[in-house]
Amino acid sequence: MKRITLASLIICVVVAVSFMPSCKKSSSSTPAAKPTLYDSLGGTTMVADPATSSTAQIEKGRLLIRNIIDSTIFVIAADDSINVYFKTLLMEVGSGNLSGFEELSKNLTDFVCVGTGAKDYTYTGLSMPAAHNPATNPRINGVVSDGAFTEFENDLVMGAGKAGVPSNTPALGSVAKIVESLRSSVVGQ
Ligand code: HEM
Repeated sequence: MKRITLASLIICVVVAVSFMPSCKKSSSSTPAAKPTLYDSLGGTTMVADPATSSTAQIEKGRLLIRNIIDSTIFVIAADDSINVYFKTLLMEVGSGNLSGFEELSKNLTDFVCVGTGAKDYTYTGLSMPAAHNPATNPRINGVVSDGAFTEFENDLVMGAGKAGVPSNTPALGSVAKIVESLRSSVVGQ
């Protein structure tokens, strides 16, 4: 019978080990996290913040959401069918006071960031019913009607378009579903 040399034994062991699945690797590796809607909007990649003159950076997902929000506020401001709700804000802006606009922009941006899965921001504003009830938020001029909510959704799509996001973008469809799911906590409060 042919003798097995030490060299051929070593080769066999090395080959066998290299083809063996590594138990250690498979048990310790965590499954890749499922991408969130926030990820599909740009996610956590840091980019220059065009709103600042310094070298400040901002997450790409947040920047896109903020651009959509700000464009939508401008669309709403020019929409005579619902801008009456924003009377306080429009009066402030008309007199050169941007503090209410900045706070609304931040709150809405935080709200949408968190709602789409962002991990690095928190929403600290009022709940949706409280934000849209004139008794708890004197900044809203009246109780939101069903028709006003639908018009708000149309303005949001238009605002997204102005921010460079076409209405057939899949991620925008997912955001629209989240917005629609909030109808009953905004209307009639
Ligand atoms: C799902 C849809 C909506 C969301 C996510 C939303 C979200 C918000 C948020 C986060 C705030 C700020 C709350 C705070 O300051 O603590 C706010 C305020 C307000 N919302 Fe909405 N909103 C929605 C729909 C609407 C609609 C349909 C109207 C009216 C047509 C409306 C009118 C207002 C007004 C007038 C304010 C106060 C603005 C100000 O501070 O001057 N919202 N909303």
